[in-house]
Amino acid sequence: MTAGFVPPEYPYDRLDDARKAAAAHEGGMVDLSVGTPTDPPPPEVMTALAGDPLRPDEDRAARGYPTSAGSLVLRDAIREWTKTRFRVDLTVDHIAVCVGTKEFVATTPQWLKLRYPDRDTVLYPSIAYPTYEMGAILAGLRPVPVPVDSQWRLQLDAIDPADARRALMLWVNTPGNPAGGLDDLAAAGSWGQQHGVPVFSDECYAEFTWDGPPRSILGSGGGAGGTEGVVAVHSLSKRSNMAGMRVGWYAGDPQIVGYLREVRKHAGLMVPGPIQRAAAVALGDQQHVDEQRGRYRERLEVFASIVEKAGAEVRLPGGGFYLWVRAPSGDGWEWASWWAEKAGVLVSPGSFYGEGGASHVRIAMVAPVERIELVAKRLGL
Ligand SMILES: Cc1ncc(COP(=O)(O)O)c(C=O)c1O
Repeated sequence: MTAGFVPPEYPYDRLDDARKAAAAHEGGMVDLSVGTPTDPPPPEVMTALAGDPLRPDEDRAARGYPTSAGSLVLRDAIREWTKTRFRVDLTVDHIAVCVGTKEFVATTPQWLKLRYPDRDTVLYPSIAYPTYEMGAILAGLRPVPVPVDSQWRLQLDAIDPADARRALMLWVNTPGNPAGGLDDLAAAGSWGQQHGVPVFSDECYAEFTWDGPPRSILGSGGGAGGTEGVVAVHSLSKRSNMAGMRVGWYAGDPQIVGYLREVRKHAGLMVPGPIQRAAAVALGDQQHVDEQRGRYRERLEVFASIVEKAGAEVRLPGGGFYLWVRAPSGDGWEWASWWAEKAGVLVSPGSFYGEGGASHVRIAMVAPVERIELVAKRLGL
């Protein structure tokens, strides 16, 4: 048998040397590499996970196989949240859940390819979350990066018309990981309509938008409700610190959502029942999100001042909880090693997010401010 695909090394596995250097510091490593939330989910979410003795029917439902599309309770909570947050009216038919959005990002190209076999290209921002490219590779498709401008925004007019004709989908991500840029989502929606390409908008950092209110592509598509040709992708991992529970959703064009919902049902993709119940509870509360915003904002400011004192220029992001900083030497890998060796802090080299990011590092604000202050102390700042 001839061997085919060999998975590339997972980016964060390449940090082992830096991890060792950082861990050697007294007090241990401060891990700001992966964007994994470390703050607790709201207590009501944990209570909801355990079930409600006053609602035995719901409890029994949580024991059986859950619906792949998502329970009506959860989809209704999503509908309500979308209305409050973005003033967009959806019905539950516009909405379905996924097992965390990484799974959705990684698998959607293969489902769409089955539906539209004459398209072979996935467009995504050139500096981005690596799974957009990986989803195309895993589907045997052509990943084509779209250039970003100096503010890290997608340059839609730089998309080659030949690539647009072959495109199965365009990914946008606002606020963007890693650089925190804010795209014009209405422009992305119209580009999609003009070119007949569905636009998938990953909005998992929407609650952590700093420059202006949160943005959504919902309402910017075609048709009466503005959902034709667009799908927004959301997660509870970042919003409600539920990364370990694996729950997200996608919402928008009822035809695309309906197709994905059916095909994903055949693939057995389901969010466990108790987690669906907890997710609905999380969406009903905004106070914990405001508290989390406060934590990220404080950490961004404290770390930005450390970076400045360490002699590099830094700008706070338009959204998200990452600092995206150019290495003074222009070499992101070398600077990541410097942070590990001198300050015991693990950061991600920018090349993880595309070749154009090689001169940067990404620093995730996922440690308490006391740990971040330890970094300053180790550097004698
Ligand atoms: C841009 C972006 N999209 C999606 C995800 C996946 O999040 P989850 O699978 O936890 O929903 C992440 C996680 O870091 C991300 O940064």
